Amino acid sequence: MNAAPKRVAWITGGGSGIGRALALRLAREGWMVAVSARRTELLQETAGLAKDLIHAFPLDVTDTAAVRVTAERIESQLGPLQLAVLNAGIGEFVKLDNFHAATFAAHMQVNYLGVVNGIEALLPALRRRHSGHIVIVASIAGYRGVPRAAAYGPTKAALINLAESLRFDLEREGIRISICNPGFVDTPMTAGNRFPMPFLMNAEDAAETLYRGIMQQKFEIAFPRRFVWLLKLFRCLPYALYFPIMGKFTGINRRHRHG
Ligand SMILES: NC(=O)c1ccc[n+]([C@@H]2O[C@H](COP(=O)([O-])OP(=O)(O)OC[C@H]3O[C@@H](n4cnc5c(N)ncnc54)[C@H](OP(=O)(O)O)[C@@H]3O)[C@@H](O)[C@H]2O)c1
Repeated sequence: MNAAPKRVAWITGGGSGIGRALALRLAREGWMVAVSARRTELLQETAGLAKDLIHAFPLDVTDTAAVRVTAERIESQLGPLQLAVLNAGIGEFVKLDNFHAATFAAHMQVNYLGVVNGIEALLPALRRRHSGHIVIVASIAGYRGVPRAAAYGPTKAALINLAESLRFDLEREGIRISICNPGFVDTPMTAGNRFPMPFLMNAEDAAETLYRGIMQQKFEIAFPRRFVWLLKLFRCLPYALYFPIMGKFTGINRRHRHG
């Protein structure tokens, strides 16, 4: 009897949070998963949770050449990649008194250009094979300008636009692209948030929804549904309604008046 063909995935930001949970979800289905991030010890921890199926490939996604070499190493060690989830990201809140250009540059380097580096590294092999699926992890914070997300939100808006733009050419070549827009997920990134996070999900539920969306080959995989629809509705509002409603929703107006 022939063994089932090996399915190989690469997840950046696979050392914790959504990336780690998705690596485990894929491993449960028998996928070979390469996980990348900067902290080797967290990657080894992820790999240790599904021995022989999850493999650590430490990487800083801002290093264009290293991303290319890593993609090649994964293919030569594990086999042709069918799925790449470009998920590595950072998120810091910006207030007017900590507005530094360097913070904005760092967010663009990791969240946006880190994904672009990944796509550049993947394209030669995927184009040669006319197959493969690239999933970009953005955020519902990319739908519209939300308070304190001035450094983070634009990187996610840029990713949504990037995925929409690339879809036209990629689909013609047989390569799928998806954009994942999560709401609040309980991960190290949100652990320090000191404000109510509506519809907060755990990382396993987020990974399950993402996994199902990937299997269904959806273009947009956004969750949790109620929060997504609320923010999509906000996206349609004229400014005269959007600013007061979002201000009230987040309590930012009240906080500002009281300093
Ligand atoms: N949690 C949420 O509520 C939420 C909501 C919407 C979207 N998202 C998005 O979901 C993705 C995953 O975030 P998460 O919530 O799971 O947070 P997380 O646990 O902090 O995961 C972020 C991952 O990115 C990696 N990373 C950061 N900078 C990197 C770099 N320069 N090179 C390589 N890897 C890097 C981190 O590992 P190292 O630090 O070791 O490199 C970590 O593995 C992010 O893109 C985030 O923006 C999260």
